[in-house]
Order: sequence, then C-alpha cells, then structure tokens
Amino acid sequence: MNLPTEVRYRPYADWTDTEMATIKENMAKSPWHATYHIEPKTGLLNDPNGFSYFNGKYHLFYQNWPYGPAHGLKQWVHTESDDLVHFRETGVTLKPDTAHDSHGAYSGSAYPIGDELFLFYTGNVRDENWVRDPLQIGAFMDKEGNIKKFKDVLIQQPADVTEHFRDPQVFNYKGQLYAIVGAQSLDKKGFIKLYKANNNDVHDWAFVGNLDFAGTGSEYMIECPNLVFVDDKPVLIYSPQGLDKTELAYDNIYPNTYKIADSFDPGQAKLINPSAIHNLDYGFEAYATQGFNTPDGRAFIVSWIGLPDVDYPSDKYDYQGAMSLVKELTIKDGKLYQYPVAAMAELRQSEEAFADKTATNNTYELELEVAENTQAEIVLFADDNKKGLRLHIDTAAGRFGLDRSEAGEQYATDFGVTRTCPIPQKACTLNIFVDKSIVEIFINKGEEVLTSRVYPFDGQTGIALTKGNVSGKYFELHN
Ligand code: FRU
Repeated sequence: MNLPTEVRYRPYADWTDTEMATIKENMAKSPWHATYHIEPKTGLLNDPNGFSYFNGKYHLFYQNWPYGPAHGLKQWVHTESDDLVHFRETGVTLKPDTAHDSHGAYSGSAYPIGDELFLFYTGNVRDENWVRDPLQIGAFMDKEGNIKKFKDVLIQQPADVTEHFRDPQVFNYKGQLYAIVGAQSLDKKGFIKLYKANNNDVHDWAFVGNLDFAGTGSEYMIECPNLVFVDDKPVLIYSPQGLDKTELAYDNIYPNTYKIADSFDPGQAKLINPSAIHNLDYGFEAYATQGFNTPDGRAFIVSWIGLPDVDYPSDKYDYQGAMSLVKELTIKDGKLYQYPVAAMAELRQSEEAFADKTATNNTYELELEVAENTQAEIVLFADDNKKGLRLHIDTAAGRFGLDRSEAGEQYATDFGVTRTCPIPQKACTLNIFVDKSIVEIFINKGEEVLTSRVYPFDGQTGIALTKGNVSGKYFELHN
C-alpha cells in the first residue's frame, strides 16, 4: 500500500496505543490468517533475517513495519523454535533507534560467536535531503535476548557502489568468517561483494573482491545474497531485480534465483564452475530467501511469501506478508531439492484417502501421485461451482501449471494469473501444504517448488479433481 513518507517514517514513539489498538482490531477481522506459518504480529512482514542456530535453538527474525501494510521504518522481530515448525515470538526486537540505523534496521544475518549471537545488518540512514547512506553494522544478542549494538560501522559504502548496498550474510567457510553483501555498481548493475573478518574479529572486515559467480549483471541490483553449502557444494541464492528475461524466464516482478557451483575459492572471491541461473521457486511469490548451515552441516532456507512493490488483498486489514515453511536443501543428481523439515509431519491430525471435498478448513496437506502420461486438473479453494485455484499436471508434456484467475480476490494481475514450471516427463509426486491463504507445492519431494498466496472468497474451501486420475492422501493439519 502506498502511504505518505511522513507516515511510514514516523518515529515509533509517536504512535499511540489507540492507533495500535485500531490496527490490531482491523487485523483480527481478516478471514485469511495462516495457522502454521509465521505472520507479522502487526503490519508488514518482509524478509527473513538472522536465521541461525544458537543456544540450543533456532532463531529467525522477520523484517517488519508494525504500523500497516507498507514498507516503512523497518525493525527486526525475533522468533525462536526447537523444531523449525513451531515458532514463538519472544518480544525481542532490533529497533531502528540509533544514528546508524535511523531509517530502518534493514536485512541481515546472524552467526553465533561464543555466548552471543552476532547480528550483521544494514543500517538504512538518510540525511535531511533524503540521500541514503547504507551502513553495514552489527550487534550482539545474548542468551536472554538482550541486544547490544556496536558503536562502529563494520563496512562503509565503497566508492564503486551506489546507495544500493545491503543485506550482509555472514557465514563460516573452513573456520574463517566471511560476509557477502548485495550491491549496485555505478553503472547500475547488480553484483555481490565478498568480505572476510580478519582473525575472525567481527569488528574487523576486509574487502576480498567482487564475487565471481559468472553473473551477467543484466539485473540492476542484487538483494539478499546467501551462500550455503550442500554436500560441500556452494549454492548461491539471491534476489536479482530487473534481471533480463532472456537470461531467465520469470513472471513475478522480481525472481528469486540460485546457482550451484563445484567449489568456493575465497582467495579469488570465486565460485568455481557455477551452473546456469535457475528459478528457486515457480509460484506467484517467494522472495528474499535466506539460508544458513547448521553446526552439523545441514542447509535450511526460508522465504518471504510476498514481493516488493505489490499490493495485497490483506492490506485492507492493515497487514501483509508471511514466512514460508522452513525447507531443507539437498542435492540429488546435481539438482537442488527444497523440502519442508521432517517435523512438519507432526502437524498431521487425520489421514484420509484423497477425494473431492466440499468444505475443508483450508489447512491441510495433500500427498499425491500422478502416473506417467497423465493429464490431470485439481482445484483447490474450490467453491460449489469448482472455481478456485487450478493445478494442471501434465506428466506427458512435462509441465505443471497454476491458474489463480478464479481463486479469490485478484491482485498483481499485471504479472499474469498463471504460472508454469517444467517437470520430468514421468510419474510425479506432489506434496501440497494449504494454510488459509498460503499454498506451497513441492513436486517430487522438492525438485520444483511453487509458493503462492491465494485470498479465497467465503465458500472457497473445497477440493475437486476435475480431470484425470490422481491418487493419494489428505491430512488435516493442526498447529
Ligand atoms: C528485500 C529488501 C532488502 C532490504 C529490506 C528492507 O526485500 O529490499 O534488500 O534490506 O528489504 O526491508
């Protein structure tokens, strides 16, 4: 939603309890609240931040403007989890309350150092002429959730980048701490800068080089770069803006993409033998995905189910955005797979054979099999006339399609109402997680993923198989 700058950057202290109560009241009226996904307590949720493992728990913050469905003065809001399925908000926030983050505590990452969690983030600072000074800054969070911000700026804006320089991701590679930062060159091309912490001192960052990942620079900015390791292979996940569609076909305003490489050569700031660029997700919205490696080497990612510069039907209830399920990354036959963590199965309440249903509560998982040489159509969020979200599965042509045109309130239609993705021309499986206004589809246990919002009308609660043969199971999910 477009709100005036004065509203979006109004100091937090100036908002009254009455104003906050009105926002909460309005939010409570929404019929679309998710039940097992993270949503903002109030206002807008965007990027996942500080996703990490520390003090025996998982930590995940979200970018938030608490006062409405717009991109205003951002803070980080803390959640924690034991199983990556159930997350609790702790009340801890990283607020935009110093001269180094006066216009927003923008995105960043986290890494445990001793007894504390190091938070590495972008301080968005603007002067009286609204000129931006992007500062890469830090803080320590202790085990009780107390946050102490560093006084020093860790990385200043380099001479060869514009004001678009943000989203530091700190990671450990062979015992050495590195960070990558998204950047825009002076001739407006997106690239990534690599830094190294001298003696692993998080106050002392040295520039290593511009990361060579065989990017073309057809994008004008790269947001939220992440380097994670899966079976020792580097996987670079990033959010390029303005990427040329001849380089990669995509429909969303901005794609979320990845490359897999053979190895990482930090000395040369280089990914060795990087793959072509791929879509991380083929759905209507998945962006700013953040990943990290656990101490035992697993790689987890989580995505913002939302996109910048898009208005959502929930805006009228004063909130916007949700977090995806946490997905574990694996590589099989050179291909990246993303699949929800095994503990998700604990949400399964009842099991039935897959069949048409007229009224679900739109919180379920489907686990389906589609034979080879089959064309099938399933409608989720189906009303009595079988209008809803159409899934076309074609294992003969090797194509999966989504059609949102009859699924609830329409929005972002300038970017099309269908999405497709290639699938192997053979039998396939589908795991589909529906949560009120969210649908996450995993083909062949994560070989391809489609993440989307749907804002169903009243009565769009059914499931209908309208073409072909599909078998499988229906699980009611309960948090
Ligand atoms: C991506 C992004 C980041 C930035 C943050 C601000 O959605 O634009 O680049 O740090 O959101 O909320």
